[in-house]
Amino acid sequence: MNSISIRAGALEDAEEIFRIHKDSVVSLCAAEYKSEQIAMWLDGRSAETYVEAIVGGNLWLAQGRLIYGFVEIDGHEISKLFIRGSMAGQGIGKQLLELALEKICSAGYSTAYLEATLNAEKFYERFGFRKIGEGTFTRGNRPVPIEIVKMERLV
Ligand SMILES: CC(C)(COP(=O)(O)OP(=O)(O)OC[C@H]1O[C@@H](n2cnc3c(N)ncnc32)[C@H](O)[C@@H]1OP(=O)(O)O)[C@@H](O)C(=O)NCCC(=O)NCCS
Repeated sequence: MNSISIRAGALEDAEEIFRIHKDSVVSLCAAEYKSEQIAMWLDGRSAETYVEAIVGGNLWLAQGRLIYGFVEIDGHEISKLFIRGSMAGQGIGKQLLELALEKICSAGYSTAYLEATLNAEKFYERFGFRKIGEGTFTRGNRPVPIEIVKMERLV
């Protein structure tokens, strides 16, 4: 793999971040969800979705020849972590997760929280997260519930 660096997201990255988000959902989440759920997942979203986190300094990218993935935090929550499908399983998710945990810790929080997709639960367990509940989220005008697992760990 090309060498990768981690950097803060910039406004001009927003379109590419949206493309990676869609690619990641379609290629990496499809095994655990119905096609109707995958189709609704990013309904109503656009590049604009990432602007607040970028401006707030709460979104980081893994960059090599291309942008390979991104992570976003919101307070003590890891609110998004998505890797380009073709780049999964190469240690990029781990690097971005560790960065997010460092940022949450240095902001003074003692725990990190996230809502894992069903396909990512074991990945987070691997890094010490434990299940504390279950839930769903919905998007769009014909909401289709998408199941998630609520998880937490100390930082
Ligand atoms: C889940 C995700 C973030 C993992 O990122 P990744 O770059 O593929 O994972 P890494 O290569 O960094 O893996 C790090 C370790 O976790 C393990 N791992 C990765 N994905 C795993 C999975 N789905 N289940 C179990 N273990 C997993 C790897 O084997 C590796 O273990 P090792 O350190 O013992 O070798 C990524 O696959 C992804 O974007 N998935 C789709 C979007 C998603 O569900 N995001 C989470 C939203 S809450």
